[in-house]
Amino acid sequence: MAFLFNSDAERAKIFAAEFARELPSLPFVTDASSVDPAAVRYLLTWTAPQDLERYVNLEVLFSIGAGVDQFALDRLPKSVKLVRMIEDGITRMMQEYVTLAVLALHRDLPGYLGQQGAGEWRVRPVGQAAERRVGVLGLGNLGQAVLDRLRPFGFPLSGWSRSPREIPDVACHHGEGALADFLANQDILICLLPLTAETRGILNASLFSQLPRSAGLVHVGRGPQLDTEALVAALDNGHLAGAVLDVTDPEPLPADHPLWRHPKVIITPHIASVTQPETAAKTVVANIRRHQAGLDLIGLIDRNRGY
Ligand code: NDP
Ligand code: OXD
Repeated sequence: MAFLFNSDAERAKIFAAEFARELPSLPFVTDASSVDPAAVRYLLTWTAPQDLERYVNLEVLFSIGAGVDQFALDRLPKSVKLVRMIEDGITRMMQEYVTLAVLALHRDLPGYLGQQGAGEWRVRPVGQAAERRVGVLGLGNLGQAVLDRLRPFGFPLSGWSRSPREIPDVACHHGEGALADFLANQDILICLLPLTAETRGILNASLFSQLPRSAGLVHVGRGPQLDTEALVAALDNGHLAGAVLDVTDPEPLPADHPLWRHPKVIITPHIASVTQPETAAKTVVANIRRHQAGLDLIGLIDRNRGY
């Protein structure tokens, strides 16, 4: 029985040390060619290797990231459990990023950056947090963590998910039928949905038109959820006031894409959060122990839902 680690050497060192301490009897392998594929029970990777079918006894496929849309679920044998990464580092970094982005839109940072570029010293109008409604699409691990971190600022908070949720001080909505009402009441909309057939293209012209005029967008989900042409149009016609984008499709956008130089847009290169090996190794070890004890895995993907 072996654990095959398919990521960079720096992370491998940290994982290897954790495995040596906590699971010394499970061989930890980083070189796929050095192990009998039939011995591999656990594989941690960002994308599935081309020769996945060689791992005939694979039991658990761990994504090294929180998302699993990079895996073709229909290519994975039904016997393999797919697990997304839930670890403190990803959560904390997402809380930092979304707080930064929400405050940037709330305090009109794109406007001030534009003024700085033009050498202009001018006070812009500012609203109060209690009047700036902030809503999150996706109330999972990261959506809830982000709401937690935004709570002390005093923004009226709400969220939208597929199934009903109850979160203190957050107006929770769920299902297709509740989306329009949710959108109509957001001044800053954050997307933290996983990419699935249902969420692909969800940030489109119709959705933007349901937001109040001058709303802002923070997109940290996945690039293919956003129709970039519709976003440019909504920004240019003044319906949206600004956007902070960490994910795009493609990544990066072509050099001449209008969003790169749009005065109302801040773009970062998919860095909102990054798996931290120290904490990730601990959660993977804990999950292997759970698996070996016959317990449910934390972050197990439901193949029917796709997340
Ligand atoms: P979770 O699986 O914990 O949560 C997903 C949430 O989305 C749930 O609340 C779920 O609803 C909701 N949801 C899914 N599909 C629908 C739908 N069709 N309609 C309404 N709600 C839906 O995921 P995480 O919070 O861990 O991560 C979310 C995503 O964030 C990742 O999949 C990834 O794409 C992205 N991400 C981006 C990063 C970056 O650096 N930019 C880093 C890490 C993650 P319900 O509660 O009912 O299940
Ligand atoms: C992730 C990501 O899914 O970095 O972890 O996007």
